[in-house]
Amino acid sequence: MNFWAGKKIVLIICGGIAAYRAIDLIRSLRKEGAVVTVVATKSALEFVGKLSLQALSSEPVHSDLFTPAMSDAMDHIHLTKNADLVVIAPATANLLAKMAAGMADDLTSSMLLAYNGPLLAAPAMNTRMWQHSATQRNVQQLKSDGVEFINPSSGSLACGEDGEGRLAAIEEIIEAGRSLLSKKILKGHRLLITAGPTHEALDPVRYIANHSTGKMGWSICRAALRAGAEVVLIHGPVNMEPPHGAESRRVTSAQEMFTNSIEAWQRGCSGAILTAAVGDYRPLHPKAGKIKKDPANPELALTLTANPDILATLAKESGGKVVVGFAAETGNALELGREKMVRKGCDLLVINDLLDPKSGFGTDTNQVTLLYGDGREESWPLLSKDMVAEKLIQAIAIMLNK
Ligand code: CTP
Repeated sequence: MNFWAGKKIVLIICGGIAAYRAIDLIRSLRKEGAVVTVVATKSALEFVGKLSLQALSSEPVHSDLFTPAMSDAMDHIHLTKNADLVVIAPATANLLAKMAAGMADDLTSSMLLAYNGPLLAAPAMNTRMWQHSATQRNVQQLKSDGVEFINPSSGSLACGEDGEGRLAAIEEIIEAGRSLLSKKILKGHRLLITAGPTHEALDPVRYIANHSTGKMGWSICRAALRAGAEVVLIHGPVNMEPPHGAESRRVTSAQEMFTNSIEAWQRGCSGAILTAAVGDYRPLHPKAGKIKKDPANPELALTLTANPDILATLAKESGGKVVVGFAAETGNALELGREKMVRKGCDLLVINDLLDPKSGFGTDTNQVTLLYGDGREESWPLLSKDMVAEKLIQAIAIMLNK
């Protein structure tokens, strides 16, 4: 089931130009199945219309302490009573200051003082306001009071300046909220994750590659971070930004992926999840200049040489650490997977069949079978890659915490 389905979110919108982006946040959360109750400060309603917020959330919008919607006039207590999560987006310097001081002079600040559940703040403001020692002091205070922050990003601001202060991306805010609600089953573990394809150069303009998009590795990386792990993500060329919070390194070739992975592994990882589609071979003699067409000869022979096998190397040197591999096969997946499991010597191999149109490269779903080192086999139904990642992290946590 979708993580957000049925979750009750109270979204507090403060008065800043980024208030308009709260509209996208409401839409995205509702699309995921969450129930969103909006509380907007009076200033927020100067920037974004109450009617839009109400239409998008399908709930009344609350903004005034003294014109309460509830009969006992205790909105500031009741609004958050059954909330799974309270999100403040955008959070202004003013509200952060009031929260840090414990003030309660309007609906939002009173509500927040009366609430002690999971709370995520996504600040947005001018760079100097954000970097001002008063704001930073308040942020530190609130962090030590247990408030989780998703920091503003850098870029061009509404005031015409460039710098830190933009509201974080909507997906990042949602991911931070999910992380806040997730059990930290991998706390204290450092994981190496490989993802994406590799490019093996033929000459300066051409390469041998594969269709991997990195989606499965990204989902696993996010799930591991949510579970409290430190993650080193070594990935090939993909069209995605690394998940927030991962230590990531972008590489091009299998050899680079190998060197970087070994280096990261030796820096104290307790497990590795190798989802990358690593090129098995590379051109033996890549050319320094562009290979020219020979009109007299329609054939071109390439000599390839084998790349080092990261999974087999780590599995050999694992010394009690947990090494997990992925195997994408084209037919006969289970039989080939069992043979690969023996050859690679890993603790867990996740196999899927690329001939299944709902599994494999570029899809958002995957049907996988797990082969454990102790001989157990487990087939999961067709699931979103996100759900496969979540379940896999739970399985790996059991192995790591044994
Ligand atoms: N793998 C690796 N290093 C390589 C090749 C593969 O770490 N040089 C890892 C992949 O990241 C994956 C697993 O090994 O976790 C299986 O990859 P796959 O390509 O299916 O296995 P191969 O050994 O290359 O076997 P084949 O291509 O012949 O099926």
